[in-house]
Parts: sequence; structure tokens; C-alpha cells
Amino acid sequence: MQRNSETPPQVPFADIARNLKPYAERLHRVACEIIDRGSFIGGAPVKSFEENLAAWLGLSAVCGVGCATSGLTITMKALGIGSGDQVITTANSAMPTPESISLTGAEVVFCDIEGGGFYNIDPTEIEAKISSRTKALLPVHLYGHPCNLERIRKIAQRHGLHLIEDCAQAQGARYRGRYVGTFGEAGVFSFFPSKNLGGFGDGGAVASADRELIAKVRRIANHGRGSHKYLHEVVGTNSRLDTLQAAMLDLLLPDLDAMNAARRRAAARYRERLAGIDDIVLPGEAEHCEPVYHVYVVVVPDREALIEFLGRRGIATGIHYPRALNLQPAYACLEQGEGAFPKAEYACRHMLSLPMFPTIGNDEIDRVCEAVSEFFK
Ligand SMILES: Cc1ncc(COP(=O)(O)O)c(C=O)c1O
Repeated sequence: MQRNSETPPQVPFADIARNLKPYAERLHRVACEIIDRGSFIGGAPVKSFEENLAAWLGLSAVCGVGCATSGLTITMKALGIGSGDQVITTANSAMPTPESISLTGAEVVFCDIEGGGFYNIDPTEIEAKISSRTKALLPVHLYGHPCNLERIRKIAQRHGLHLIEDCAQAQGARYRGRYVGTFGEAGVFSFFPSKNLGGFGDGGAVASADRELIAKVRRIANHGRGSHKYLHEVVGTNSRLDTLQAAMLDLLLPDLDAMNAARRRAAARYRERLAGIDDIVLPGEAEHCEPVYHVYVVVVPDREALIEFLGRRGIATGIHYPRALNLQPAYACLEQGEGAFPKAEYACRHMLSLPMFPTIGNDEIDRVCEAVSEFFK
């Protein structure tokens, strides 16, 4: 688009460079130190970040991994999940969630979502899907909103199932005042650059109160190595958090709560300004939950028209996600076509994500809200 003095600046969907600006000098210094040292795998920076993340979560152990996708797969493998087993998860998530299950050899069992401004797995559906082959529950705190952990945990306990939390989009979200990722046997985090604690490439972590589980995860993530470099106790993989990533993430971690608070303030401003519009479903905040708005998702009758309308006014939007997972070609084998998960499918057809990032300005939010209001007039 041609810009002239009358064209207002674009409102980006997210602006990672802007978020990182206050840290740039320190990040450059840390990166240069690592480069000068010439040591890029493991070492003190990884250990420091793992310890700091564990302390921040109030858990005993953390293992840095290459990304959350492999972190989830490795955690399930460490828990003995594999071929012949079933793992229950949501039909509304990013592809990595079910993919991580499939990569263990286990079967994915999808559930519908709650609906009505709540996009997480419906606990009632979980109960109905449990079979003799179910080994684990993999709820996702999608968009930064905690799942109903109380109900899900009770179901896991009642049926003797493993509980692994997919916290890729929700680092720092709280349920009953406690961080997500501390309720199950393991919490898995992503440091993909756009995440709430975003890194500088791919990265992730597995956290647990169970040191033995983390020791198993660490072994699998490092080619099955035990105490000796050339002694491989199990067949593992290569999924380590880079030294450079760990050192730079360590610098951002102390500010994560403040960054999340800024996201929550932005969400509150959206709510205040959009609340009067009948045709828009705003994201809810369930009881006991403190979401961290990884993205700000609204549901509208005609998504494509709104996206186009906002786009013409220089406002960027996203869709998270345009297709329920049961409708992905990769899961056609499950034979759960259109209509199998009505609430997830409806949300996927009608949702869009408005600009959301910690450094978004009030003027930018107001511009988005004015444009949305104008659209619905
Ligand atoms: C809900 C969810 N789970 C898992 C992942 C996988 O994270 P990573 O990119 O670190 O593998 C993502 C990332 O998109 C995600 O959004």
C-alpha cells in the first residue's frame, strides 16, 4: 500500500522487534559473550536457565529441549506411552499438539471444546472418550487461557491417567493463583519467537516436580546418553535447548510476568471498548483463571468480511486456527469428518485474532476497536 502523510501507520498483528527493543543491548552483549567463548551446546547458560525456570515455576526440575513439539513427544515416551496407547486431546489447537502424540506411535483421540468464548477442551467430553487403551490426557491452555485444571486433574486421577499440560501458548498463565504447567506430571513450554516467552529461533522446555521423569526426558533428548558421552542407554533423539537460546531467554524470564500483565491490560482495553457489540463473541475469563492472551481471539458471523475491512484500514489479523484438527488431511485416517466436533469446527470457521503483543499501544487498540465498531454499525 502507498503511504502518504495521511495514511496512519499499520497496526501489526504482533511486533517482536518492538517487544525486544528495551533488551537489545543486553541481548547483544550476552550473545557476543557466548560467541567469543565458542561453546554452543549445553554448559552453564543452559543449566542456569533451567534452574531459573524451575525456581520461577516452583518445580524441582526443568529440561531444555529443541522445541515444544519434541518436548511433548519425549515426555510421553519417558512416561512409557507408545504404540497401542491412546492419548486424549483437543480438536482445537496447533498441529504440533496431536502431531506430538502421533510421533510416539500412540493414537490421537480428539474432544470438542467448551464454546461460547471458551476454546479449551471440554472436560465432560474427556470422560466420554476414555477407553481401556487411554494412557494420558494432553490438555492445551490455548491462546494463553488455562483449562479447567481442577476437573481435568480429577478425571486423570480417577482413571489413573498421565496428565501432561501443553503450555506452549500459556507461559505465566495462572489457575487458582498457580502457574499452568505445575498441575500435571509435566508441563511443556515453547520458546518459538512469537510465544509469550519468545526466543531467537526454536526452543522449548519440559518442567516437572518429578526429577526422575526429567532425567528420563533429558536422556531421550540427548541421544539416549547416560553419564558417558558414548554410552547410549536408550534410543533417543537430538532435542536440546541451544546455549545461545538459554542465555538470551534467561535474560527475558524475569520480565515475563510484566510482559504478560501488559497483554492482560491490552485485553481489558479490548473488552471495555468492544463489549457493546452484539455480533462479536469476546474471549471469556473462566473462574479461577488468569489468562495471558498469547492471542486475542474473537468470533464473528462473517470473518472474511471483517478481515478485509480491517486490512483496508491497515490493521493486521490472524486466524488461530482456520481448521479443526479432525479436518486436517493428516488426520483423515481417524474418519471424523465435518460435524464430529461442532463447537471446535464452528469456532475455526468464525474466529479471528486481533493485534496483541505486550508493547501494543492504547492508540493502536483504540484504532482496532473503532474500526471493528464501524464494521458492525
Ligand atoms: C498449542 C501448541 N502446542 C505446541 C506447539 C509446538 O511448539 P514448538 O513450535 O516449540 O514446537 C505450539 C506451537 O505453535 C502450540 O501453539
